[in-house]
Amino acid sequence: MSETQLDVRGIGKPDAYRILKEQLDACCEGVADPIAVMATMACILHHGFGHLWTGFYRRLAPTQLLVGPYQGTLGCMEIEMGRGVCGTAALTRQTVIVPDVRLFAGHISCDARSMSEIVVPVFDYRGEVMAVLDIDSAETGTFDDVDKRQLESWVERFARDASVM
Ligand code: SME
Repeated sequence: MSETQLDVRGIGKPDAYRILKEQLDACCEGVADPIAVMATMACILHHGFGHLWTGFYRRLAPTQLLVGPYQGTLGCMEIEMGRGVCGTAALTRQTVIVPDVRLFAGHISCDARSMSEIVVPVFDYRGEVMAVLDIDSAETGTFDDVDKRQLESWVERFARDASVM
């Protein structure tokens, strides 16, 4: 299979997500392994929107998130549940949108160029937080409710298959 790396900058968000989702579904057809899907999702979102950092932190212990598949500059290795934006989303089980990271107390800065971010919790088939999807932008105010709804629906696929967790 040969796939083109899509760039959807300049396209309205609903259409942009639809186009990228079609590519994700095509790439991941028949693939249940969560790491493979996470890596592919991170790649498609990162290059599609031109984000600064796009990737997953996986929950490998009850209170610890460890960096998973990502695109971008070097990410922090470990984040404790409850710490930073990622840890907050994981602990509260809610998507967190940060329009300006300078105004989020406890934000963990892995790249000084990061200005805004969204973190979406990823649930497994039992409804447990198994990871978070973290996307950072070099501009303030990048993420809104459209991103939240879309990304929450994208990561729902990880809750489907008990056999791969
Ligand atoms: N933004 C995160 C830290 C991880 S890096 O941005 C890759 C946070 O405050 O949780």
